[in-house]
Amino acid sequence: MEEKQQPSGGLHFVGKKDELIKAKRSFRTLEGRDILIIYHQGVFYAIDCYCYHAGGTLLNGDIEDINGKLCIICPKHKYKITLAEGEGLYRARNPKENPPVLRWYSKGVKQRVHTVTETNGEVFVKLTTIPNWIESDYYQGEKGKVERDKA
Ligand code: FES
Repeated sequence: MEEKQQPSGGLHFVGKKDELIKAKRSFRTLEGRDILIIYHQGVFYAIDCYCYHAGGTLLNGDIEDINGKLCIICPKHKYKITLAEGEGLYRARNPKENPPVLRWYSKGVKQRVHTVTETNGEVFVKLTTIPNWIESDYYQGEKGKVERDKA
């Protein structure tokens, strides 16, 4: 799909709302960055397409509610990433607890997510640039591209 650039604000037109809803998941390349636009339970999300762990594509990852947060599960090694924030979640036992109980913890933001807006039935994505570096950025660059192609 050809990218229609808005004149200001770094907004990229990514599609008509009804088409994106029907597709549920749409791949787009914006400013050389590969992202997924996901429509799930009435909400649009935009997230880097390649998993921060080893560059697996998230395109066909299942979506699950984990600890009250919607997560995409990377098909490659099953890492869990929150759709709204890009947080990596993991489950572990705290040995200081007696008895230790399995709980979900956050590794912090690992996957870059982007801002989605809708205007008059058209959907736009603004790429985020803060913070400067997040793990998923690696798989958008040249070195990461080579590694993800090998994966
Ligand atoms: Fe996604 Fe390993 S590449 S979990």
